[in-house]
Formats: sequence, C-alpha cells, structure tokens
Amino acid sequence: MSTALIILAAGQGTRMNSDTPKVLHKLAGAPLVWHAMSRATDIDAKKTLVVVGHGGDQVAASAKAFDPDVEIIWQTQQNGTGHAVLQTADALADFTGPIFVLFGDTPLLQPDTLQNMRTAYDNGAAVTVLGFDAQNPGGYGRLIVNGDQLQQIVEAKDATEDQKRVTLCNSGVMCVDGTVLFSLLADVTSDNAAGELYLTSIVGIARNRGLDCRVIRCAESETLGVNSRQDLAIAEAAFQSRARLSALDNGITLEAPDSVRFAFDTVIGRDVVLEPNIYFGPGVTIETGAHIRAFSHLESCHVSKGCVVGPYARLRPGAELGNGAKIGNFVEIKAAQIEENAKVNHFTYVGDARVGEGTNIGAGTIFCNYDGVNKHFTDIGKNVFIGSNSALVAPVSVGDNAFIATGSVITENVPAEDMAIARARQINKPGLGKRVMDRLRAAKGK
Ligand code: UD1
Ligand code: MG
Repeated sequence: MSTALIILAAGQGTRMNSDTPKVLHKLAGAPLVWHAMSRATDIDAKKTLVVVGHGGDQVAASAKAFDPDVEIIWQTQQNGTGHAVLQTADALADFTGPIFVLFGDTPLLQPDTLQNMRTAYDNGAAVTVLGFDAQNPGGYGRLIVNGDQLQQIVEAKDATEDQKRVTLCNSGVMCVDGTVLFSLLADVTSDNAAGELYLTSIVGIARNRGLDCRVIRCAESETLGVNSRQDLAIAEAAFQSRARLSALDNGITLEAPDSVRFAFDTVIGRDVVLEPNIYFGPGVTIETGAHIRAFSHLESCHVSKGCVVGPYARLRPGAELGNGAKIGNFVEIKAAQIEENAKVNHFTYVGDARVGEGTNIGAGTIFCNYDGVNKHFTDIGKNVFIGSNSALVAPVSVGDNAFIATGSVITENVPAEDMAIARARQINKPGLGKRVMDRLRAAKGK
C-alpha cells in the first residue's frame, strides 16, 4: 500500500521574531521544511504535500527546490490543524494508503519511529498518534488512553484539571488510514476553546465509530518543535550531537567531536580523520581515508581518497579533488578540478580551473578568474610546475610538463614543456644599495 506525507507549514511562527517564514529557518544548513520532507524517504511516500499559508510563496519555492514533485496546497486562512489537512482532500481524493501528517517545524524525527507507526497501521490501526512523556506538558495536547486504545486527544486549552495532569502528550505526528481520514475530518467542529478545527479531534470521532486508535511512543527530544530561535539552537545542538555519534559509529575519527559542524547531507567515508574545528556546509562528500585538518571550511565539494585538506583550507562550491590531492593552509578552491596527486599547498586562490594530475602550484599563486564582469577558465595540464607568487590571468592555459617561473604574470597560453618567465628582468647595481642607505642616514642626521 503506498504512503502519502502531508506537512503542515502554514503557520506564522511569530516567536521566531523574523521576516523569514519559520520553516525556512535552517537547521544543519537546510530549511526546517526540508528536514520534514526528508521523512518521505523513511516512509517511502509516493506523494508529498506541503500545506502553506504565511510566507507561502517562499515556502513553496523552497519545498520545490528540494523536491520538484512536491504538491503545494494553500491554506489561506489558518483555521487549525484539522482545517489545514482538509485542504489536501481533493489532492488525496483517491488515495487509500496510510497518510502521515507531520509538522514542518519538527525536524528531529527518526526513521524507526515512523516505521513503528507504519507497523501499527499494518496491524489495523485507523489512527496512530506519536506520543511522548513530556517533562513539562504545558500547552501540548494530552493523550487519553484506555488499555491499548487511544480514546481521545484533549487540547490543553480544553482540558480539565485532571486531564492536565496527564503527561503523555501529542507530538503532532499522525498516521491515518487514507480511506477514513477525510470522512473523520468531515465530522470535526470548531466547538472548542480556540474556535479552530483541530486535527486531534479525529481520534474521539474514530473511537465513536469503533475504529482502532493507537499511540506509538518516542523520546521527547525527537518531537522537539521549533517555535523560537532558542528552540532552533537546541535542535541544532541535538542534530549535531547525533551526527557526530553516527560519524564515529561509521568509522570516522573525530579528534574533537564537539568542534565539528556537519550539514544535513554530509557524506563521509570510513577511516577519514577530522581534526578539530571543521565546518561542513551543504553538499560535501568525502571518500575513504582522506584527512581534513583543523579549521577548514567545506561546502558543495568532493574530496577523494587519500586527500589531505588544510589546516585552514576553504573548499567552495564546485571544488573537486582527485585521489591523493593536497590542499594546504590558507588555500581557497572554487569551481575547480584538482586532479590526482596535484598539490596546492600554501596561500593560493584557484577558481574556475582545472589543475592536472601531479601538478604543483607554488605558494601565493592567484588564478585571476574575474575581469570585473565575467568569470574565465584556467586550464593547467599534468605535471606542471607553477612558481610561487604567480598570477594566471584567465582565460589561459598551460600545457603538460610546462614550467612557470616564480613571480610571473601569465596572460598568454603556455605550450606543453615550455618555460614561461613573465616578469621584469633583475638588474644588480654594484654598491648602490649601501650608497643610498648612507645618503638617507646622513639626511636624517645619523
Ligand atoms: C498541536 C496539537 C497538539 C500537540 C502540539 C505538538 C492540534 C490541534 N494540536 O498544537 O495536540 O501537542 O501541536 O506540538 O493539532 N498549522 C497550519 N495551519 C493551521 C494551524 C497550524 O498549517 O491552521 C501548522 C503550523 O504551521 C504548525 C503545525 O500546524 O506547523 C502545528 O500548529 P500549532 O499551532 O503549532 O499547533 P499547537 O497549538 O502547537
Ligand atoms: Mg506548536
């Protein structure tokens, strides 16, 4: 039976104190709504729908960027979580499998938890709710359970004093049989303290129809909803500590785990060593046995087997390092292929380029890729030696086995095996150095 995923993301998120819609705030480099959308893979969803309202155009654009097949459903007035799900009725009219409802601001759910909910559906539950034991139940909906049946969800605003003492709370995640979801919602009324259509009301309605309603439990930390920037910081810390533990379990050495910052999609092979203070932006892949030294910053780049990067290196989008390449301190690489065993060891900028196999780029070399309006390409062949403090003014190419003398400003192509010297010739004037110094000292009265 195929699965659908509805993500509710129409709310305003006032407590973020931001012009940016809440679900577009980033966790581990990805908007919160992407984290929720990623759950589609865990439950093998055939269809993902995101319900948008506040900042809907922006949220829709971001959701589409993550998954072009996502369906955007508008909820122009926010009349409650039940009302939000009702907006998907047409899009899901013929859908008969389980439908998961998640909130766009709840990024830490684990695959196993959703799998457990799916199993409850497979075992006949019409409605399965993800619950947790709340340290401080406050404003959460309370789960009223009888034996193995969930009888009702009571919102805090509507709860009696007795019900408020219940600590088993609603995370907001539900899995509902698609053949009954919309007929249950049709019976929901706004007869409650908030005057809204609560999604949570479907539980009582389902029980009155004799349907099976279950609770699956998870740790409170998993259901953390982001409502404020403090919550976002707490969620980020939780994400990072999980990512570090799983990196260690996957055979990666972290010399100082707390100082490594992963992105939502960082992929690292076995036996990679990460020194302290490393920042991974989105889109980084690192192959087996690479060594990333301290204080390096990497985003949208690929590091192959056996590379050494850093300390203090910056790999910007489009940096592709071949096997065994070495990128040293204070080197920046952007949109460039550094082929096998090439070395760029000190104080260099390489942008919009190819650096061939085995080539050595001397200290302080600059690839001058930008003329103020356009970017241009530099192509360096195999086993080239580029002397220190050279400038390569793109577009330009240097053939295999060529040699560029130190301090050259290369504006013309260099054929293979040639030596290029592009700097003023040195002139030595015998004794003039001392004579000039003597004159200057005399003028100053020394
Ligand atoms: C909801 C649950 C509550 C649960 C809590 C967990 C209901 C009625 N209550 O309460 O039982 O304990 O979450 O955090 O479901 N949204 C829309 N459209 C709307 C209203 C909300 O898209 O009209 C979205 C919001 O953007 C948000 C999510 O639904 O992502 C939850 O809404 P929120 O107002 O935070 O619900 P709570 O009052 O926290
Ligand atoms: Mg909430």
